[in-house]
Amino acid sequence: MLNYKKLIADKIDAPLDKTELESLVSPAADDSFGDFAFPCFKLARVMRQSPVQIAEKLAAAVQTDEHIVKVQAVNGYLNFFVNRAEYVSDVVNDVLSANGLYGNSDMGVGKTVCIDYSSVNICKSFHIGHLSTTAIGSALYKIYAALGYKVVGINHLGDYGTQFGKMIVAFKLWGDRAKAESDGVKELQSLYVRFHKEEPDHPELTEQAREWFARIEKGDAEALELFEFFKKITLDEVKTVYDRLNVKFDSWNGESFFNDKMDKPLQLLRDKGLITESQGAQVVELEDYGMPPCLLVKSDGSSLYATRDIAAAVWRKQEYDFDKCLYVVAYQQNLHFKQFFKVLELAGFEWAKDLVHVAFGMVSLEDGAMSTRKGNVVLLKDVLDKAVSKARDIIADKNPDLDGRDKVAEQVGVGAVLFSALENSRIKDIVFSYDRVLNFDGETAPYLQYTCARCNSILEKAGAGAYEAEADASAVDNPETLRLVKLIGSFPQAVKDAAAKYEPSVISALLIDIAQAFNRFYIEHRVISDNAAEQSARLRVVRATASVLKRGLALLGIDAPEKM
Ligand code: ARG
Repeated sequence: MLNYKKLIADKIDAPLDKTELESLVSPAADDSFGDFAFPCFKLARVMRQSPVQIAEKLAAAVQTDEHIVKVQAVNGYLNFFVNRAEYVSDVVNDVLSANGLYGNSDMGVGKTVCIDYSSVNICKSFHIGHLSTTAIGSALYKIYAALGYKVVGINHLGDYGTQFGKMIVAFKLWGDRAKAESDGVKELQSLYVRFHKEEPDHPELTEQAREWFARIEKGDAEALELFEFFKKITLDEVKTVYDRLNVKFDSWNGESFFNDKMDKPLQLLRDKGLITESQGAQVVELEDYGMPPCLLVKSDGSSLYATRDIAAAVWRKQEYDFDKCLYVVAYQQNLHFKQFFKVLELAGFEWAKDLVHVAFGMVSLEDGAMSTRKGNVVLLKDVLDKAVSKARDIIADKNPDLDGRDKVAEQVGVGAVLFSALENSRIKDIVFSYDRVLNFDGETAPYLQYTCARCNSILEKAGAGAYEAEADASAVDNPETLRLVKLIGSFPQAVKDAAAKYEPSVISALLIDIAQAFNRFYIEHRVISDNAAEQSARLRVVRATASVLKRGLALLGIDAPEKM
């Protein structure tokens, strides 16, 4: 692929160095004004003339050639036109020669990114509130990996706390292994609810729970066996959902893993004089930074969520030597992350600057079903099942003879749910609606999947031999193809931007633009035709479109069915 920015910078005779000139060149917003634009505002200061005058003067001096065919001065900008037929075939060749991995790069080689995401709690249900952390974290995992980074996916399990003492008491009194095995987390949760119901009338329960929790901490065999049983039930359930979502982890070290790893960082904080006593508890004062104190040790000597996160960050740095450690967690925990990041910074860990809270908004269901106050939790599994069943109905209606319908319904239903968490800038709250996410004509995953399948069916219809014909470049020298190919050509940069901003939505938005541009291209230009040279040129564009849509969806964790 030609480096257009450099070619253009070389043609501008202005008193700035070449790299700076190059950095000012950007894709033009409107194809009719050109393909790349160079603003003269910065030069105005250096050259002490108006941008309009400078643009006129520079334009007159530009030498066009076979790659850069035209230049125009417009309102203080230089607008460059490239050889469009050459540009289109260049981009398409790049995509096709990348063998399905267009947008991959080695920019991250030698660097490590830890991503803490999903991070479920033992004995708690896996509900719609976990969708965003799981979808965004997993997409970032795939995006960073595509850029050559070593990625460590971490499920920081919520597997520590006094609630597990209560769980054991409840289970021993009213629980049953077989029932827990068959009904799963739902059964564990109802035992837990029963504990809280009975506790006011049976104060001895509180004491028993405390004892059992102490036994867990001491490593008592029976206590640990029961805890492991609860853990297995929870994780077995969660893992079936992860499998459906294409989500993987490299580490399941949760809060309890840090039981014996908090003393050292705490001692360091004490040595640095950062810890003060406050009503028997140990805290780091953060008043100077406009935050309440960070509580690290309670008056009874027990540790907190923040203590464990501090120990975890220190351990991860040692273990993985990360360049960045991301925490994909809802914005409700903003303060928690700000506090413990600050504590680590004050402790003198220069890498504290590499910790990033990747915050996101809340998900609610359109019918208001996700109301935690009413206690009716909507399980992620149930949302997936319902989306898949609706997808199955839509497919039965649109394409009743489709082979492998069930598998396609799964890919479409799950993809629709995942995409709903990835389509908008992550900080926005989401109101989830089945009809909206499954709309085949909307800005949705099914729309992308359908467009991709449409490309596949065009390619299939043309037959394998169709590519051998020499391509006629003039068949793809038109505004619709140019628009489509420009979008496709911006995919590698979008992958980098998505990583830099921790925003998978950069990719989802581009995919929607590509699919829409493809559908306009397809309306305007007949791909299958008797003119073999014309057909070959357009088929290449179709292949490139399919390849980028498929790749982009894969980075979001979404499958693209061959046929739909
Ligand atoms: N388990 C926690 C929760 O459900 C999320 C943990 C996030 N990760 C972390 N290192 N704090 O709220």
